[in-house]
Amino acid sequence: MGVDDREALLERALRAARAGAALAAERRAGGVGEVRTKTTETDVVTSADRAVEALVRAQLLDGHPEDRVLGEEEGEGDHPTDPAAPACGVRWIVDPIDGTVNYVYGIPHYAVSIAAEVAGVVVAGVVVNVGTGEEWTAVLGGGAWRNGVRLSGPAMVDDLGRALIATGFAYDALRRRHQGAVVAALLPRVRDIRRFGAAALDLCAVAEGRVDGYFEKGLALWDRAAGELVAAEAGVLVTGLRGAPSGPEMVLAAPAPVYKQLRDLLEEFDADGGP
Ligand code: IPD
Ligand code: CA
Ligand code: CA
Repeated sequence: MGVDDREALLERALRAARAGAALAAERRAGGVGEVRTKTTETDVVTSADRAVEALVRAQLLDGHPEDRVLGEEEGEGDHPTDPAAPACGVRWIVDPIDGTVNYVYGIPHYAVSIAAEVAGVVVAGVVVNVGTGEEWTAVLGGGAWRNGVRLSGPAMVDDLGRALIATGFAYDALRRRHQGAVVAALLPRVRDIRRFGAAALDLCAVAEGRVDGYFEKGLALWDRAAGELVAAEAGVLVTGLRGAPSGPEMVLAAPAPVYKQLRDLLEEFDADGGP
């Protein structure tokens, strides 16, 4: 697949994300409505999460019924991936509203996140901040962009002690206890910690240099697929710990000088361990 094909996928993702963002904004303006819980008491979902995902799915599949969609709210829908089948074709990875708790509280920091995966590799991604209208986009090998401005690489703080580090917490209480202990150990070693509440936007913030690094344990593919591509294409290192690629155990994203110092401390603090 060449860059032109990836750009075509990005165009489709962008169209769907804009439509999803417009619907999310419209629904929020009309009030949040019923808020239900999912995996735990703190893991919430609104009718807007479902409506945005349904709209995004319909847009992505319009004219491309052969594509597959993995969305946070509906999973793989009516066409679950056969694990024995070779990974071919396009699979869209969708978080209809990343930052649902912010959405519920009216904190204007939530996003629609869409990535296109081909043969197991994320080749295009878009993250749209619903409140600000900022659109981060990337195709594999084509750089990272925000509203047409190329991200030329994050700010270079080279000392972890002066680094502003973002993180996030899972919905499971036991996992949070472990994550809290990691943050308590890290806090005296960095400039400060931020918890903004939307993983996709955290990854774009690293790409922008709005923070000097980000880490989180327990992210799902829809939280991270598009944002990781944006960060990587902006020159940010995106990995797990102990030589592992990024994944549910850990996503660590930071520019090179901070990356190594942060990685070493996170390994020492067992950030990828615990429940
Ligand atoms: C959550 C947000 C949050 C992160 C959680 C995610 P959701 O996604 O990205 O920042 O800390 O791990 O689950 O539930 O708002 O889509
Ligand atoms: Ca999410
Ligand atoms: Ca979500």
